[in-house]
Amino acid sequence: MVRIVIAGTGAFALILAQQINQTANPLLVLSCRENPEFQEACGGCDLTVIDYRNRQALQYALRGSDIIISTISGPEQINLIDAARSVRGMRVFVPSEFEGALANRPDPDPVDRGYVQSALGVVRDFATRSPPQIRYTVFSCGLFMERFAPGGLQSYGIGAGSRVQTPDDYLVNVGEARAVILPTTPGGAQARLSLTSVYDVAQFITAAIELGTRDWPTEFRMRGETMTVQQLVDACSEVRGVPFNITVYDHETAEAEAQYCQETQDWDRWHFLQKMLQTANERYHVRQPNLNNATQVQPTTFRTWLQNMWGLGAANPFWQG
Ligand SMILES: NC(=O)c1ccc[n+]([C@@H]2O[C@H](COP(=O)([O-])OP(=O)(O)OC[C@H]3O[C@@H](n4cnc5c(N)ncnc54)[C@H](OP(=O)(O)O)[C@@H]3O)[C@@H](O)[C@H]2O)c1
Ligand SMILES: *[C@@H]1O[C@H](CO)[C@@H](O)[C@H](O)[C@H]1NC(C)=O
Ligand SMILES: *[C@@H]1O[C@H](CO)[C@@H](O)[C@H](O)[C@H]1NC(C)=O
Ligand SMILES: *[C@@H]1O[C@H](CO)[C@@H](O)[C@H](O)[C@H]1NC(C)=O
Repeated sequence: MVRIVIAGTGAFALILAQQINQTANPLLVLSCRENPEFQEACGGCDLTVIDYRNRQALQYALRGSDIIISTISGPEQINLIDAARSVRGMRVFVPSEFEGALANRPDPDPVDRGYVQSALGVVRDFATRSPPQIRYTVFSCGLFMERFAPGGLQSYGIGAGSRVQTPDDYLVNVGEARAVILPTTPGGAQARLSLTSVYDVAQFITAAIELGTRDWPTEFRMRGETMTVQQLVDACSEVRGVPFNITVYDHETAEAEAQYCQETQDWDRWHFLQKMLQTANERYHVRQPNLNNATQVQPTTFRTWLQNMWGLGAANPFWQG
């Protein structure tokens, strides 16, 4: 039995909680507010309202847990890590990452969600002290496929903290048949990226829990599919059956424009360009997955997922309205 704590009650936390509810492992959810809808939707899971500034209350809530899965960000997550390492017993902390693989992460990271302090840096620091005060495991999955769903991640209630809510926030707007891409790496190769549906991410995490947390590595890598940026846009165009209006950037232009956005403090555009550059640097390419083969999860491929979302006859509001 693995005693699990999930911090946060966003849509991603709910999808994960629902998946964990299918197992026999006890689950406690932490939230900064009462949330009966969440509790009902996750099958009557326990929920504790927490003030992340109250260290004692946090420590009390975390006692006896084996894993803490964070879906929160900012100083609250830092406080959570600090409380987790100071409660008696060793536990695994899963920071709120769920994106590209660690090997491709720039340092410093321009799009880190820690705002001031990187949660990954903090948890690593506690994990490498002698003796270690905590263990950590990052789940790397590449991009959530749901970024390319009708309405974008916003329609799932995901992405508020990540600036990737609407279809125009990243790479390709499938509904409007347009894309803004930087298709090549700085070396001139076709840039690759990996994609996993959030439902498969939740299945993979749950399957990893079922393996037992004793031998968890510091990174679990999973992917539904890997493709190039150009292939992704082509697949969207094929499934929609219409040509896409594609604006193609090169590195020099993207970097110059990002620099200009920094000077003019146009942070929305700056984030957009940073993500484009990061994508071209293959930040979201998950090499050598170590969770796909270790579990029975059969993740959906991007093309299958796209077909379900956007293919003729797909049950989405785009075709109905
Ligand atoms: N790979 C991808 O394509 C991709 C895309 C988007 C997101 N993600 C990942 O998915 C996860 C969820 O992302 P998200 O953007 O949906 O999360 P989010 O909007 O930032 O919020 C998640 C939860 O954190 C809590 N929260 C939000 N703001 C807070 C604050 N200022 N202080 C304290 N708690 C706060 C809230 O829970 P309570 O109110 O219950 O406390 C909220 O439900 C993250 O790990 C993110 O990195 C991945
Ligand atoms: C899972 O959900 C069911 C209701 O759908 C509930 O009765 C059960 O207690 C939940 N199990 C756990 C472990 O949370
Ligand atoms: C394609 O997109 C660009 C940039 O958004 C726009 O200026 C142009 O008018 C579009 N072309 C067509 C044919 O829609
Ligand atoms: C995972 O399994 C597939 C199919 O069984 C195989 O082709 C692949 O080489 C395996 N990958 C690893 C990393 O073991």
